[in-house]
Amino acid sequence: MEIIRKVEHLRQFVADAKASGKKVGLVPTMGALHAGHISLVNRARRENDLVVVSVFVNPTQFNNAEDLATYPRTEEADCEKLQEAGVDVAFIPSVEEVYPEPDTRVFDLGEVAAVMEGAMRPGHFNGVAQVVSRLFDMVRPDRAYFGEKDFQQIAVIRRMVEIEGFDLEIVDCPICREPDGLAMSSRNTRLTPEQRKVAPVIHRALENSLAWAKDHTLDETKRYVVSEINSFPHMEVEYYEIVDPLTMQPLSDWSEAANSYAVGCVTAYCGKVRLIDNIKYESVN
Ligand code: PAF
Repeated sequence: MEIIRKVEHLRQFVADAKASGKKVGLVPTMGALHAGHISLVNRARRENDLVVVSVFVNPTQFNNAEDLATYPRTEEADCEKLQEAGVDVAFIPSVEEVYPEPDTRVFDLGEVAAVMEGAMRPGHFNGVAQVVSRLFDMVRPDRAYFGEKDFQQIAVIRRMVEIEGFDLEIVDCPICREPDGLAMSSRNTRLTPEQRKVAPVIHRALENSLAWAKDHTLDETKRYVVSEINSFPHMEVEYYEIVDPLTMQPLSDWSEAANSYAVGCVTAYCGKVRLIDNIKYESVN
């Protein structure tokens, strides 16, 4: 595995591979890698000839200085995992390398970015669009892989791709879970042992709500999920919305689910750790 830190070297390496007809898959990450990331890498390996994984904690997508400062950074362990997973290139740039000048671009991300994470974390999705567009420009991948835990992020990235006219496939990959159901996340390492025991209630509440949804209104289902999660110590739901999977707009009735399914998206604090998860409600209308 090549560890590349300079954009210039990365461009050259990828250009050489492409010149010999290789298909390139990119897995963008912020490091602190876990089995969820490795599942993206495995898929990328199956579908491409060359796999690039970027490891970069992108400052422009953090709207909270403490969150950026405490975001886990585990470069050595990350490299070992990537090497073991058979990655060709680990791209680990500095902030100056990615942003030689401040990025002042403001993307017109529209309605998909206006709600939920977009409303709670002003500027977050613009920062994601900035860094992902830079990575796409540097790597020019044929395919890029993202986890469905960040369901809204994928919609935002698709919108950015449309705006910038990138010619690539966005591949969304299922959420990976711990055996007790907790969605894998780099932030899980910041939970205390006691919080870690409680946190799976997020997924449990979502799962239980699938049966509940069959004979309850959408609003009742939302209230059910929120009260289930909040009934546990350390837990506090920030929002729970059931949305259209394409527009991300919150629905107020199951019959509004135009795509035959709706997605419930939750953000909840477990102590000071902000966790997100989601679930699909199929055939609800
Ligand atoms: O999902 C993430 O880890 C990040 O938002 C991403 C896509 C790597 C951009 O920094």
